[in-house]
Amino acid sequence: MKILVTGGAGYIGSHTCVELLDAGYEVVVVDNLYNASAKSIDRIKEITGRDLTFYEADILDFDKMDEIFAKEQVDCVIHFAGLKAVGESVAKPLEYYKNNINGTLVLCEVMRKNGCKNIIFSSSATVYGDPAFIPITEECPKGTPTNPYGWTKHMIEQILTDFHTADSEWNVILLRYFNPIGAHKSGLIGEDPKGIPNNLLPYVAQVAIGKLPCLGVFGDDYDTPDGTGVRDYIHVVDLAVGHVKAINKIKENPGVKIYNLGTGNGYSVLDVVKAFSKACGHEVPYEIKPRRPGDISTCYADASLAKKELGWEAQYGIDEMCADSWRWQSMNPNGYDD
Ligand code: NAD
Ligand code: UFG
Repeated sequence: MKILVTGGAGYIGSHTCVELLDAGYEVVVVDNLYNASAKSIDRIKEITGRDLTFYEADILDFDKMDEIFAKEQVDCVIHFAGLKAVGESVAKPLEYYKNNINGTLVLCEVMRKNGCKNIIFSSSATVYGDPAFIPITEECPKGTPTNPYGWTKHMIEQILTDFHTADSEWNVILLRYFNPIGAHKSGLIGEDPKGIPNNLLPYVAQVAIGKLPCLGVFGDDYDTPDGTGVRDYIHVVDLAVGHVKAINKIKENPGVKIYNLGTGNGYSVLDVVKAFSKACGHEVPYEIKPRRPGDISTCYADASLAKKELGWEAQYGIDEMCADSWRWQSMNPNGYDD
């Protein structure tokens, strides 16, 4: 089977390519390198000892995408390509809607034209908004996103569902990720954010290595055991394996399926600081700051549906996530830059 991975040079995409190649799939990556380095492609090959086909192309480019699909005879698409910075999406809604929504529409039009109607989409727990209940099952109603990024996930889920309603040949698997962190055990691929990181783990890692002076903890007055926000952090390799399992599922022509990919465990910001301090061998300095607008108190998954229907379950705990994140950070202090 040949799998086309959009955004395959990025953080989650690169880890997924490793798992796909290890599972024996042929892999074609399309990435415009807007938020990635071509070096990640070399590293994927180095880790797996296998080859893949890489196109530096934009999913908005219909003609180029059509050319790629006509040539490659793809069986299934895993669609990671998109812009993902929550705060930036508030300042640049047009760019976010254009890239994420138009990009998906162009991709699907090209897929339909070339007879490929199997798609696995990177959605997010953000679609639950401030969740109606915890742990969050797939039955939990979708909430109101607080930013354009969240709306793109919300809307793309609906768009892909409508494609199946109109044409039952479409198989759509919506994977709702919780908080992916960590890196491949080799230390060769990992998350490489541009500028000052927005997310907790890359921020902590850059404080730990001395690039940033101190972590700001956004709020210690939430209704949680230690007052700081609680999230379901999931090792990126576990997440990547979830995609391989989703491909097995899509072979059954399942129609539309939705799965939470999380561990089912909630960790606070201070739990993460503690685990990371253990991993890097020194205390990570932090100070309490005001709450970040738009943040919720607690978010963790009930991931039992993925276990039941995909045979997938997260294997790694918070200590391994932090240890692997630290290995990547310390082996590559400037990410993929020399
Ligand atoms: P990433 O930025 O590392 O990867 C996205 C990749 O898509 C990048 O390599 C980028 O260059 C590429 N890309 C963007 N626009 C493109 C376009 N128009 N054409 C071709 N390539 C394009 O991000 P990631 O963390 O690996 O996230 C992958 C997907 O998972 C995204 O859709 C993201 O929204 C979703 N997601 C991520 C998280 C998270 O916390 N990392 C959580 C939930 C969902
Ligand atoms: N946090 C800090 N300091 C920081 C950064 C984060 O205290 O410098 C806290 C946040 O307040 C929150 C927790 O750490 O309590 C996690 O924050 P992240 O920014 O790492 O992650 P979020 O849960 O806010 O959002 C992430 C992704 C979204 C995605 C969502 C759900 O960024 O794209 O998970 O999957 F939608």
